[in-house]
Amino acid sequence: MPVMPKLTRFGVSIEEGLAARFDAFLRAEGYGSRSEAIRDLIRKSLVEKEWAKGGRIAGGIGFVYDHHHRRIADRLTDLQHEYRHVVISTQHVHLDHDNCMEMVTVKGEARRIEALFNAIKSTKGVKHAGIVRTTTGHGMD
Ligand code: NI
Repeated sequence: MPVMPKLTRFGVSIEEGLAARFDAFLRAEGYGSRSEAIRDLIRKSLVEKEWAKGGRIAGGIGFVYDHHHRRIADRLTDLQHEYRHVVISTQHVHLDHDNCMEMVTVKGEARRIEALFNAIKSTKGVKHAGIVRTTTGHGMD
C-alpha cells in the first residue's frame, strides 16, 4: 500500500483581483479545490526548474515527417542511436501514404534530451516536432 505523504497547511494572502482570476482559472481547468490547483502550479514550477538546470527528467518527443524525403528515416534512426542513453522507446505510426509520426519516450539528463529534440526538429524533412517536458516523479510529493 502506498504511503500517503504527510500534509501541511499554510495561509496565503493574495490580492482580491488575483484571487478572482485564480478561481476562474481553476474552474476552467477543472480543479476541485484551490489546494489541488496550487499543488499542480508548484509542481509545474519545480519541473520547469529541473529541466532548466539540466537535472534528471522524463518526457516525450513527437515528430512528423514524409518518409519519401531523401534518407530521412536513416538520419532519424542514426540520431536515436546516438542518443540511445536517453531514449527509452520509440513508437512509429504510418499516418497516411506519405506521413510518418514517431513518439520517442525519453528519460535522463535534460541537456541531452534538449539536444536530441533540437537535432530532430532541425532535421531537413521533419514537418513538426514537439516535446513534453515532465518529471521522473521523484520529489513531487
Ligand atoms: Ni511510417
